[in-house]
Amino acid sequence: SEFRAIAIDGPAASGKSTVARRLAEDWGMTMVNSGAMYRAVTWEVLRRGINPSATGEVIALLSEVDWGCLVRNGQTVMQVGDVEPTMKQLKADEVNGAVSLIAAIPEVRELLVQKQREFLTKGDLVMEGRDIGTVVFPDTPYKVFVTASEEVRRQRRAAEGAEDAVEERDKLDSQRKASPLRVAEGAVVVDSSELAIDEVVAQVKDELIQLG
Ligand code: C5P
Repeated sequence: SEFRAIAIDGPAASGKSTVARRLAEDWGMTMVNSGAMYRAVTWEVLRRGINPSATGEVIALLSEVDWGCLVRNGQTVMQVGDVEPTMKQLKADEVNGAVSLIAAIPEVRELLVQKQREFLTKGDLVMEGRDIGTVVFPDTPYKVFVTASEEVRRQRRAAEGAEDAVEERDKLDSQRKASPLRVAEGAVVVDSSELAIDEVVAQVKDELIQLG
């Protein structure tokens, strides 16, 4: 592709979404939140009363639904057939509790990775997730891994008032067989534990600019 992709990966509450959003705004790139896609599949699984552990039923659902992915007003929007679940619905506790199970299914990943790559045919992008540098865009030179101590990430979640089993999700995301959360080869690693978000953004920008 003639377009560039910046891959931003990291665990939940590392600050990666904020970094991705700021880079996209400041550099005029499209920001794509790949987690919203895994959340949308999970939301539909739950809405239909399918048990997230019933892998065969989840896989069957993939071809039953017309899944659309687009970015509108800077927001990643998923279309589940004719329905567009809202961000609030995608961030619901039930979705938080089941998304890592759904994201561990290779067939789910295959479908969504293909859709994620299609965004690069339309323009420059910043994509955030868990496997963007390792699997989705392994050839991009622009890879960032944002991390933070468990303690800091727990505090950030508590401050947001979110009731989310972050640690459990991170554990499942890191230990699954299909595209586990890993630092991509050549990625710039930024620990945001002791930094203000402006400092994190500035550091990431410096590192990316040096890459050319
Ligand atoms: O980024 P977010 O926390 O919204 O992602 C929700 C979940 O989606 C993650 O915990 C992970 O299980 C899954 N995910 C993934 N690969 C990505 C993005 C998200 O497996 N690239």
